[in-house]
Amino acid sequence: MTGSPTFETILYRQLKSRDAEIYHALWLDALRLAPSSFGSSLEEEQAKDTSEFARAIERNAIFGAWNGTRGLVGTAGLSVKAGAKTRHKAVLFRLFVAPDWRAKGIGYTLVQHVIREARPLVEAVQLAVATHNTAAVRLYDTCGFREYGLERRALKVGDNDYVDEYLMELTFDDGR
Ligand SMILES: CC(C)(COP(=O)(O)OP(=O)(O)OC[C@H]1O[C@@H](n2cnc3c(N)ncnc32)[C@H](O)[C@@H]1OP(=O)(O)O)[C@@H](O)C(=O)NCCC(=O)NCCS
Repeated sequence: MTGSPTFETILYRQLKSRDAEIYHALWLDALRLAPSSFGSSLEEEQAKDTSEFARAIERNAIFGAWNGTRGLVGTAGLSVKAGAKTRHKAVLFRLFVAPDWRAKGIGYTLVQHVIREARPLVEAVQLAVATHNTAAVRLYDTCGFREYGLERRALKVGDNDYVDEYLMELTFDDGR
């Protein structure tokens, strides 16, 4: 039998501004489910208008994993820095895969899309990841990111919980 799409088939494509609503909804899910994995707060992001997400999609390269039945099930973004002295670097942001879709290689593939986009544009891709987030740290390590720093108390969640973050980067001085 030839490969007809199954209910688990995933397609990857860059988001367009018309995807802003579904992107906003998935991002709110991410903050509900993994509040200590991201710097933004649920309340702040709930208050935002969907047009802000459309603008973010236009300014950055945000890749989505799409399933025919469920819609958007994962994202990862690349933001190239704008300053004259920093535009040789980019940041990987908002890597998230919906819980039912994890451990299928989706996060890895999204990161590969970000790397492919970044390679001709910048010299390094950087990110911050909570030290307790072993799944994400391992995934970044598999993708070639290396730790270059540690920020203690990078995030404060609620009144008493602090999150330390590893700073990781992937450099392209391998001749690309
Ligand atoms: C971290 C997260 C994005 C991982 O997503 P995922 O889709 O489950 O990840 P994958 O299935 O791609 O990767 C899982 C494993 O397979 C490996 N892998 C997957 N595809 C691979 C491939 N083609 N080649 C090599 N390794 C691969 C990964 O390195 C990882 O290794 P492990 O089994 O040792 O853990 C997901 O757990 C998540 O959304 N967590 C909450 C949000 C979050 O923490 N985001 C990161 C913020 S910095």
